[in-house]
Amino acid sequence: MYDKNIEKVLISEEMIKQRTQELAKKISDDYRGKRLIMVCVLTGAMVFFADLIRQINIPVEVDTIVASSYGAGMTTSGSVRISKDIKYDISGKHVILVEDIIDTGVTLKTLTKMLATRAPESLKVCSLLDKPSRRKVDFEGDYVGFKIPDEFVVGYGLDYAEKYRNLPEVCVYRTQQEN
Ligand code: IMP
Ligand code: MG
Repeated sequence: MYDKNIEKVLISEEMIKQRTQELAKKISDDYRGKRLIMVCVLTGAMVFFADLIRQINIPVEVDTIVASSYGAGMTTSGSVRISKDIKYDISGKHVILVEDIIDTGVTLKTLTKMLATRAPESLKVCSLLDKPSRRKVDFEGDYVGFKIPDEFVVGYGLDYAEKYRNLPEVCVYRTQQEN
């Protein structure tokens, strides 16, 4: 699974598991007694999402959305669109968008703006990772797993050109010597 492009493990399976449990507990406490819809931002968040929802101990409904902005490389393109929309009418409902990483913030800023126009009762964002030093637009996640330095990471759902999503931990990708 690992090759010369993987520099090191940044966040171990154990750390991810522990933090996911904490986030799930917080979400369960915050939304007890409310109707909650959790939306997985595909594809990167799918691994985190699957682990997170299984630790949530209140009823939850799930949906998926696909946003396109990133190409096959490592730089963000300015424009974001929804290429696969959610199936729910979220008007009057409590919604949490689940993402893999907040980088420039452009994707989530745009997505939350678009979804907010549909009048959800509440709209929050849960992200496994956050790279605050890379922000181009003002955006903060409501539930964040780990703040990380400005390194390109792969694994646990995150990819480089669709590779490495299956690594069980979050690893630093060696950007100098691409294959
Ligand atoms: P943003 O719009 O710049 O915040 O980009 C968010 C998206 O960029 C994420 O959903 C990821 O798909 C991708 N991305 C940003 N940083 C990384 C990284 O370090 N590894 C893998 N994907 C990343
Ligand atoms: Mg993504």
